[in-house]
Amino acid sequence: QKLSIICAPFCGGQGKPGVEKGPRYMLKNGLETDLKELGWTTKIDEPLDEKELLEKTKIHDGIDFYKNAKRPSLVGETSQKIYQSVKDALAEDRFPLTLGGDHSIAIGTVSAVIDKFPDVGLLWIDAHADINTLESTDSGNLHGCPVSFLMGLNGPENTPDALKWCPGSLKPSKIAYIGLRDVDAAEKKIIKDMGISAFSMYHVDKYGINKVIEMALEAIHPGGGNGPVMCSYDVDAVDPLFVPATGTPVRGGLTLRESLFLVERLAETGNLVGLDIVECNPNLAVDDIHVANTISAGCAIARCALGETLL
Ligand code: ARG
Ligand code: MN
Ligand code: MN
Ligand code: MN
Repeated sequence: QKLSIICAPFCGGQGKPGVEKGPRYMLKNGLETDLKELGWTTKIDEPLDEKELLEKTKIHDGIDFYKNAKRPSLVGETSQKIYQSVKDALAEDRFPLTLGGDHSIAIGTVSAVIDKFPDVGLLWIDAHADINTLESTDSGNLHGCPVSFLMGLNGPENTPDALKWCPGSLKPSKIAYIGLRDVDAAEKKIIKDMGISAFSMYHVDKYGINKVIEMALEAIHPGGGNGPVMCSYDVDAVDPLFVPATGTPVRGGLTLRESLFLVERLAETGNLVGLDIVECNPNLAVDDIHVANTISAGCAIARCALGETLL
């Protein structure tokens, strides 16, 4: 089994520098070696120039706007590069593991996986729904909007040129959220109106994580829950006790075990066809222990999704 580790050191989908360091820190933590030990033939793909991008992000500040949305051109061009990398990996039958970076890069990863597996179901693991449209976003941060682009909710006339490459063909019935606990009012309305399956922390408490995963899989693949699954994992789904160094932490999240069980279970199905791990931001740690906890949780999510078991 072959794997591409796609590095996506991008911070322009939000406003806090440091999230571009995610891939570097996770690799420094030994992620590639660990995955090799699990039996994967690995390849590292670095389609973005971290330094150049950081400069560009500053230059684009205040000039690259679409309505209230910040840096749409940069987000568009960057996520398109990630799209191409994931497509390349899939064309070589490599499992695409994409390390963010902020969550706007999922516009690229998920689009590429849909091209290869049109029937794919998307599990969006997050404290947030990231389904704001260009109309509804209050923050203007595009990492809060990727799902709206994936679904084509902004419409062609309302999509910035740099994002027009995105097919926007994801159907509401193919999405399931797990871990939600900070959803904007406009996002709640979209989720309700479109009938998107959403399992918040309330549901995790009520049913337990195992049942929630079962229900989520059944939602995206009715009649047994079998079929290809893409998992876009925002580490802020995990409680900030375990993952403190992230841009938009929200208390009351998944325990470390729940967050790992989720991906262990996905690995067990044999249906996982792509994974993103995003929003690790070492700059936001108050000490080294915060950095270590956050990065090791991110790496553990990758390992568990890719076959590591406790026994
Ligand atoms: N809903 C808020 C917004 O639109 C927060 C989004 C946080 N997204 C994330 N990928 N961490 O800005
Ligand atoms: Mn989030
Ligand atoms: Mn909010
Ligand atoms: Mn997110």
